[in-house]
Amino acid sequence: MKTKKYLRVAALAAAGSLILFGGCGTGGETSGSPSADVEPPVSAGLVAPGDLIAVSLPWVGTQNWAEANELFAKSIEAAGFKAAVQAADNKVPNQQQQIDSFVEQGAKVIIVGAVDGEQLGTVLENAKVAGAVILGYDREIKNTQAVDGVVQYNAFGTGELQAEALLEGLKANVSPDGPWVVELFAGGPADPNAKLFFDGAMSVLQPLIDAKTITITSGQVEFTQVATADWENSKAQSRMDSLLAGNYSAGKGPDGVLSPNDGIARAIITASENAGIKNLPIVDGLDAEDESVQWIRDGKQYATVAKPTQPMIDKTIEITQALELSKDLPAGTSVRSNGVKDVPLFELTPVIVTKANVNEMFPA
Ligand code: BGC
Repeated sequence: MKTKKYLRVAALAAAGSLILFGGCGTGGETSGSPSADVEPPVSAGLVAPGDLIAVSLPWVGTQNWAEANELFAKSIEAAGFKAAVQAADNKVPNQQQQIDSFVEQGAKVIIVGAVDGEQLGTVLENAKVAGAVILGYDREIKNTQAVDGVVQYNAFGTGELQAEALLEGLKANVSPDGPWVVELFAGGPADPNAKLFFDGAMSVLQPLIDAKTITITSGQVEFTQVATADWENSKAQSRMDSLLAGNYSAGKGPDGVLSPNDGIARAIITASENAGIKNLPIVDGLDAEDESVQWIRDGKQYATVAKPTQPMIDKTIEITQALELSKDLPAGTSVRSNGVKDVPLFELTPVIVTKANVNEMFPA
């Protein structure tokens, strides 16, 4: 009996259909927990050289995702695996199909930058049954057991840095202690990062709003009011046009604007220029896109938050390589509940970039 059980466990593990994560408590499989009288197989890990490692990205509409689309294949191949990398054009069904097809091709690790953090449960659960390890990349995957870990820059901390950069700019360029007039923007509501960035920023700004040091002239302070569907710059630009037209006198705008990323920052600044505003608002951003790095040098965009792509890819590959030797994910830096599971996070630290450190961070 014992031998039979052991053989089944070993065979399933060898076939990759049983995930025996221990250290991080990440075992998504409920059927597979080895009972006390079963010796765990001693063979190596879940992934072998030459295995298919597959990546589904949400879109290539911002520089970070375009870079990931380009760099992932090289990095996966350099680590000795086969690579498949696709981007889903911000469409959930595309991403679901991509993941299904990765499973059919026998992918051992599926790395996902989710279009919508809530819409992947079923396909990922199928992928898990087929034995794949699932890693979220940059964005969380919510409300499913079928995620083993997430690699990202600290998302709440990113929002805190965005607000701190905005305040630093307001103090330096508008008035040292306020009061300041500000408008708020957030990213695409389907992306769990958008809410985390916004919550992080509001943890810094809300006390100042409560103290009336900051006034939000439009009164739009809820995430649902300030979010930018699909992270589309053009939608942010239209909203800024309306905010200016509806709340500010001609040629005047807010002192500062909270922006969730660089594309939206440039849209906000462009709308302000188009409205004939001479004193452009202090605007933060995210991603340190080439164009925004230049705008920071030129003094047009006050700040960005850098979260470079290659280190995040490297961390994802490092985890994959660890699975060549072990059936456990290496220890993460923390865990965050995705609604149904405490998911290990592998977090990197983002950095504020302003004119003061732009040349040091991005030598010309
Ligand atoms: C990423 C940002 C990016 C945004 C829009 C977010 O999930 O963290 O770097 O700007 O998506 O593509």
